Amino acid sequence: MNQPHTYCSENKERFLQELIELLKLPSVSADSAFSQDVLNTAEAVSEYLRAAGCDGVEICETKGYPIVYGEKLIDPSLPTILVYGHYDVQPPDPVELWNSPPFEPVIQKTALHPDGAIYARGASDDKGQMFMHIKALECMVRTGTLPCNVKFMIEGEEEVGSSSLEAFLMENREKLENDIILISDTGIIANDVPSVTTGLRGLCYVEVTVTGPNRDLHSGLYGGAVANPINILAEMIASLHDEDNRVAIPGFYDDVEELSDNERRLMAEAPFDLEAYKNALNIEAVHGEAGYVTNERNSIRPTLDVNGIWGGYIGEGAKTVIPSQAHAKISMRLVPHQDWNKITVLFTDHFKSLAPAGVKVEVRPHHGGQAYVMPIEHIGYKAASSAYETTFGKPAIPHRGGGSIPIVPMFENILGTKTVLMGFGLDSDAIHSPNEHYGVWNFLKGIETIPYFYKYYTELSQNQEV
Ligand code: BES
Ligand code: MN
Ligand code: MN
Repeated sequence: MNQPHTYCSENKERFLQELIELLKLPSVSADSAFSQDVLNTAEAVSEYLRAAGCDGVEICETKGYPIVYGEKLIDPSLPTILVYGHYDVQPPDPVELWNSPPFEPVIQKTALHPDGAIYARGASDDKGQMFMHIKALECMVRTGTLPCNVKFMIEGEEEVGSSSLEAFLMENREKLENDIILISDTGIIANDVPSVTTGLRGLCYVEVTVTGPNRDLHSGLYGGAVANPINILAEMIASLHDEDNRVAIPGFYDDVEELSDNERRLMAEAPFDLEAYKNALNIEAVHGEAGYVTNERNSIRPTLDVNGIWGGYIGEGAKTVIPSQAHAKISMRLVPHQDWNKITVLFTDHFKSLAPAGVKVEVRPHHGGQAYVMPIEHIGYKAASSAYETTFGKPAIPHRGGGSIPIVPMFENILGTKTVLMGFGLDSDAIHSPNEHYGVWNFLKGIETIPYFYKYYTELSQNQEV
């Protein structure tokens, strides 16, 4: 099947230019100052879907930002793939650390990306990866090689917790009916080490507030006599890990899935260079749970991290003050079988129990989601693995991702189908960071690989029926 591939090579300059136009739209879902831009981006995505050959393209209103829907249904007896992606992006901050403006995409060559990488917020997460699917559809439609039915659902609130998606799924179960869900919003191990993501971590995100005296106090007049909320919060947070860097919340590990020695041995076969890892981050040592290596710590083990901490005086110069309040945002990455609602309760009870007399503690849950696993026996996994093998010229390695896409387990619950995570990004793409970028090679390789997934999945599902 080289027709879609040929069409892709012939049109690659235009594909890149279109992606650049899409990346110019600052669709930051977290910041209401960008709300019109987010809506404009939904509009642009719907136009691209239509141009790629989708029928029934709609911008579906929700309580939040709209979901863009489109479909190409060719034969009810053939399987249906539901493609999901997100058109919203993370805030670009801190903007001053970008080498070029986050919404003025530029292509630059680097050692890792000799063909160039596109620098812009959302280049890899997820506009660049989502756009590969629209262009892959265009390649298949224009060459008459689309082998099955396809539906697209592109949302605009992924980076802020997908709060409108659950209601949308409930209300549109039939419209969204599918055999397999396909997402490119993760990565591969390296451009010469293709991999299929077989799992995602869950997430439990909370905000805590420690309140001491009813107002800020003079730290000389009152210092030493009343609890300082920042001192107390720092002690409470420090006690959340033990000397082995395990999370010290009673019951936290109760439901954690322990991998067999054999599974861990297989994981260890994936190439990993610890020195290069440290060099890339400019750190002298890695840090994490005793008894596990880096690739386990960041994928199959649960974590607890402070994402932000504030309180007191942080302006210029010195101000002698005991603040009334201290705050922190804390996230826990969870693994299969840990339930994020249960973990929220465990965290809340434990954290409140840590507070000494003299302060009040409030724990406010933000959002969360369950972990996800895709068994390697599933035909969706097999089709993805063969697709990578075809275009990368070597077998793909199963790989557990450390990030979270909470809606993936939700899809399984509501729509009843599994998700194939077929990403093409690299960990070094700097997603959520300044200077986010996406390799031109990765973008084009994705467009080339996706049609093979369609082909192999259709073949495998037809074999399964007989
Ligand atoms: N695409 C990422 C998730 C991801 C990236 C998973 C790389 C695996 C590998 C997604 O857009 C994201 O950022 N998810 C958030 C969670 C969400 C609820 C805000 C995350 O993982 O922090
Ligand atoms: Mn994403
Ligand atoms: Mn993201």
